[in-house]
Amino acid sequence: MLHAIIMAGGSGTRFWPASRRDTPKQLLSLVGSQTMIAQTAARLGDAAPAERQMVVTNQRLAAAVRRELPELAADAVVGEPCKRDTAPCIGLAALLVTRIRQDPDATMVVLPADHVITPDTAFQAAVRQAADLVDAEPERIVTFGIKPTYPAEIFGYIQRGKPLSAPHGDAPAYGVARFREKPDAATAAEFLAAGDSYWNSGIFVWRATTILNALREHQPKTLDRLEKIVDAWETPAKDEVFTREFAAIEGVSIDYAVMEHATNVAVIEAPFEWDDLGGWQALPRRLGTDADGNTIVGKHLGLRTTDTVVRSSDGHLIVTLGLKDTIVVHTPDATLVANKHDEEAIRDVVRRLEELG
Ligand code: GDD
Ligand code: MG
Repeated sequence: MLHAIIMAGGSGTRFWPASRRDTPKQLLSLVGSQTMIAQTAARLGDAAPAERQMVVTNQRLAAAVRRELPELAADAVVGEPCKRDTAPCIGLAALLVTRIRQDPDATMVVLPADHVITPDTAFQAAVRQAADLVDAEPERIVTFGIKPTYPAEIFGYIQRGKPLSAPHGDAPAYGVARFREKPDAATAAEFLAAGDSYWNSGIFVWRATTILNALREHQPKTLDRLEKIVDAWETPAKDEVFTREFAAIEGVSIDYAVMEHATNVAVIEAPFEWDDLGGWQALPRRLGTDADGNTIVGKHLGLRTTDTVVRSSDGHLIVTLGLKDTIVVHTPDATLVANKHDEEAIRDVVRRLEELG
């Protein structure tokens, strides 16, 4: 059966001040009225309904995630005691699905909680195609490739190989020659120039046993600790073992830990529109701009204001005068006014604020 694992333990610092420790990007409504995690769960539709969904997030966020996804059973929201990136998160989910949900032949679709994907129907068709592919070739790790538009350093790159003889659906599907996580700008430009590479969407489909075998091969110590955690899952020692063993695990993403080494990867050319909402400048892309190039969310009056993003909340009025290329975000206790071109450095702002306490 197909189980959906939503990874929701990230921070999304570039959306500060809307994004905070206790309300990171996945818990915000950035595009549309629903939060990103609620959109992610709803998007799965019949492909993996609520009873076959699981969210792995941080312990601190678990209660808020449960409130966002009331249709999930409380134990379908797993709160990690600390952040160890996506490889441990995925390994834990694979063990829980096979051993606690007792579905040893489970297929998993693993997905980030903070992407904009449209339309839902194309996404569901792609997930079904991947699941069919895995049914036919159970050892496969299936990725979804996005046609790259610029040499981004923040994505993984998937270089396609030969077309699959039976793609099991409408979208083109290929073997994968090479997977490279977050290359430098020059290497990213080479991938782009070669014309045979995709951005990794960050969504994966595989048999739980396939990814567990890969982790056994590439991250054996992590898998040992995860197994200890799941051995204790239904015992009174659960919390103590989870906290101790998880803290001792190396933090690494699945992309570095497994994808860069795996030889059994396939890529489906994503038949959906995909946007990794990286920061505030994604809003003009998703919400569009007015005649002056501005994107406004909330109450605003602008004079001689162009190419600016304004986001207000709680009915607070923002007035801008003589601004260009600016990001203005108001929240009840903090306001950001930034040059658009400095968006990346919002991470540094957050780091500095953390240092200052
Ligand atoms: N449970 C849990 N625990 N979830 C986590 C953790 C963790 O420690 N760290 C990150 N996540 C969640 C994030 O909330 C997000 O939904 C997802 O896992 C992916 O993590 P990111 O940190 O956003 O990864 P990335 O964007 O740098 O890179 C990945 O996604 C790109 C596409 O957006 C990679 O897979 C890239 O190859 C890919 O191109
Ligand atoms: Mg991301």
